Amino acid sequence: MHQREIHNVVILTGAGISAESGLATFRGPDGLWEGHRIEDVATPEAFARDPDLVQAFYDARRARLKAVEPNSAHQALARLEAEWPGKLLLVTQNVDDLHERAGAAGVLHMHGQLTSAWCLACDHRVPWTKDLADNPPCPVCNVSGSLRPDIVWFGEMPYQMDRIDAALRDADLFVSIGTSGAVYPAAGFVQTARYCGAQTLEINLEPSLGSVYFQKSRTGPASALVPAWVEEMLAGN
Ligand code: APR
Repeated sequence: MHQREIHNVVILTGAGISAESGLATFRGPDGLWEGHRIEDVATPEAFARDPDLVQAFYDARRARLKAVEPNSAHQALARLEAEWPGKLLLVTQNVDDLHERAGAAGVLHMHGQLTSAWCLACDHRVPWTKDLADNPPCPVCNVSGSLRPDIVWFGEMPYQMDRIDAALRDADLFVSIGTSGAVYPAAGFVQTARYCGAQTLEINLEPSLGSVYFQKSRTGPASALVPAWVEEMLAGN
């Protein structure tokens, strides 16, 4: 990779970057979707049909955050964000807060965040670390039972797509880390970036569904490969 030509960097992360912190990925053995049908827990229809089940699913995941820590891959990306001399946008599909807890400042959570609740009564989003299944009142409008997880469910529009699209079109390098490439629109970012002239690199435990679209790929655990790649970037290799 010829770093002198690279100024604008877009990084996309997925569940694989948090796997070594102890958070289950979605697909594959022991994945979060293994014991659930996506339609039962991750759609607006599921929430309308059985809000208690959906709230309990996300309450358990929010509680789990308290038991895990960022790993060396999150830390390396926070360092890159702080030290990279050009523009860098860190986009994550993850709803955990491990990028932030590693020190990253400007993370774009395109699929929402477990640590945020969205009030359907007053439309405010509020920081949230407790359970929602017990129907607490919204801290802004005081209506009870109006808060839902601030998570983008299947069938809903991911956040800040215009900003992501503009960054991809401007990117000199697009890097995808720890994502299976199974879910659009994120799975299509590589094609947009490449079409607009960016170099493309995938870092994943195994070749993903979208591997064919990347010019380069590195396979192995994020905790080892991401710090090594960040070292190379900051050394100008
Ligand atoms: N290091 C690097 N990659 C890893 C590691 C690891 N230690 N462990 C697992 N992986 C890889 C897996 O091989 C897999 O390709 O991470 C990927 C995780 O894929 P998914 O479980 O499909 O997660 P993700 O791609 O983030 O899912 C996308 O789908 O369910 C929705 O909204 C949810 O944001 C999520 C989206």
